[in-house]
Amino acid sequence: MSPSLADPRPSYRIASIPADGIGPEVIDAGVTVLKKFAETLNTFDLDFTNFDWSSDTYKATGKYMPDDALTTLKTFDAILFGAVGAPDVPDHISLWQLRLAICQPLQQYANVRPTKVFRGTQSPLRNCKNGELDWVIIRENSEGEYAGHGGRSHRGEPWETATEVSIFTRHAVERIMRFAFETAKNRPKKHITVVTKSNAQRNGMVMWDEVASDVAKDFPDVLVDKMLVDAMTTRMVLKPETLDTIVATNLHADILSDLAAALAGSIGIAPTSNLDPTRKNPSMFEPIHGSAFDITGMGIANPVATFWTACEMLTWLGEKEAADQLLDIVEAVCEKGIMTKDLGGTATTAEVTNAVCEEIQNRLGKTKAEHLEGSN
Ligand code: NAI
Ligand code: MG
Repeated sequence: MSPSLADPRPSYRIASIPADGIGPEVIDAGVTVLKKFAETLNTFDLDFTNFDWSSDTYKATGKYMPDDALTTLKTFDAILFGAVGAPDVPDHISLWQLRLAICQPLQQYANVRPTKVFRGTQSPLRNCKNGELDWVIIRENSEGEYAGHGGRSHRGEPWETATEVSIFTRHAVERIMRFAFETAKNRPKKHITVVTKSNAQRNGMVMWDEVASDVAKDFPDVLVDKMLVDAMTTRMVLKPETLDTIVATNLHADILSDLAAALAGSIGIAPTSNLDPTRKNPSMFEPIHGSAFDITGMGIANPVATFWTACEMLTWLGEKEAADQLLDIVEAVCEKGIMTKDLGGTATTAEVTNAVCEEIQNRLGKTKAEHLEGSN
């Protein structure tokens, strides 16, 4: 952030990495809305720099990112990411060489995934009223099942062996538990559900449970319960109103958050933040969905997940009031029935984006140019 003497408004530098599939379509929509919002609100500036790090770049150069990519990213206040994955590149290459290659070294160890049913949209849980499904899933984002430990031997032989070792360290489990309990404490219900699988996995998951109950002692005002991951899926579907903040391992939370997004109406509305809570490194914000090859280029990708992602980014940058305002605007557009096909509507990505920009204009009035004219 760099407010200058001439212009006291904070200015945030955002690195945008649209990457693959519908990533460029939804990030373009998100940047359009964020620029319109900042310009109209006129209390802070956003300065975007676009990076073309993608599977196309990989196919052309053999690398997703240049060698100094992390040094470059560290100069930004936040990173806005689209989705990575192409039909002709194996997923473990694309994911590890771009998204995880950013998240892991930048210590973005807390992955935050809020879910709620927007006004005007309908959950498949038809009787679930607005406000009854309002969760935040905290995903451990640095180790666990995605630690990258393992190997393959005797490739191609009938006795080929592969291992994928989950790593749980007390340090990382404790920091994510503290972050999750802190999150729960700051939400009205002050309730956390610790997801586990310690009945079957008797090492890492048992330590996970022990650390959770140790950390719980420091948060006496937070109500804690524990769920096995399989039973958790049924509770999410059958009793959504009994959940609020949820903390789970890298793999468990990955799966549960897709279920959460679908229960809220569509994966096309769900945001995610990859946070370095110490703020030593920039955090990265992205819609939860992937590159959606099946709808790429059709102009029907739901941009709402990216808009909500943008709101999460603004909150993290310290602009909570503005973020709440923008989310309310996006929800109002859904309420008017201007929605893409995945939410049951007929609007295109561009139509939803334009409707959000119009709503910004209607609610917040003057543009920056008009403000400047007014002050002359
Ligand atoms: P996906 O999220 O790309 O698509 C799943 C389904 O949801 C598809 O039917 C798609 O059309 C629909 N969908 C997704 N986003 C949508 C949106 N904004 N609006 C409307 N419909 C939407 O997941 P899938 O198919 O498993 O993965 C495709 C590729 O994306 C793979 O290469 C995968 O590795 C990658 N991926 C990347 C992620 C990331 O960059 N963080 C996350 C998930 C997947
Ligand atoms: Mg996922």
